[in-house]
Amino acid sequence: MGILVVYETVEGQTRKIAQFAESAVRQAGLDVIAHNTADTTKPVSFADVEKVILAAPVHERRHPKVFEAFIAANLPELAARNTLMLSVSLKAAFPDSLEEAEDFLIEMKMRTGFTPDAEALVAGAVRGKSYDYYAAMIIQHVVMRNRDYELHNGEREFTDWDALGTKISEFLGSKSGSRPTAGQG
Ligand SMILES: Cc1cc2nc3c(=O)[nH]c(=O)nc-3n(C[C@H](O)[C@H](O)[C@H](O)COP(=O)(O)O)c2cc1C
Repeated sequence: MGILVVYETVEGQTRKIAQFAESAVRQAGLDVIAHNTADTTKPVSFADVEKVILAAPVHERRHPKVFEAFIAANLPELAARNTLMLSVSLKAAFPDSLEEAEDFLIEMKMRTGFTPDAEALVAGAVRGKSYDYYAAMIIQHVVMRNRDYELHNGEREFTDWDALGTKISEFLGSKSGSRPTAGQG
């Protein structure tokens, strides 16, 4: 029995989070397979998968359409296993916008019909150097509007790795069929 890590990324932070989850699984002595939903030609098998960790970023108020399509297409397989959903966004980085971060996840659950057993709102990163003009304007004037934050070499990582590690460990330690409580990562 092993763990499947399903993820999608646009700028790279959620790949880093998925790789962190993979390491945590290996450290727990369990087998792990990763699947990037953007790789639509690669088949994914749920055989021998006991639990699934899903991770996706929010861009312009929603998770990637292909990631959502993967979830919608695999609802019975997901419902039969324990699942942890990691929703990665910048709104999750600040207490006063956590509710908005939660809304992105609620909307995804409503669109797909998916109810994870556990979930976490995970703060992402600002990757100033890799943005085109449009993305830079969205980050500056919409996502991080009125926020005072320092960029280090054009980048700033808000992800709380300790909290994420704890969340993943709790999920891996929970018995299959049990329902850990949702919370912030
Ligand atoms: C064009 C663009 C739009 C974004 N829109 C949102 C948003 O609507 N809400 C939010 O909380 N974060 C938003 N973000 C921040 C991303 O969620 C954050 O940078 C995350 O780390 C991206 O993950 P990724 O590197 O895996 O793509 C946006 C980022 C970009 C570049």
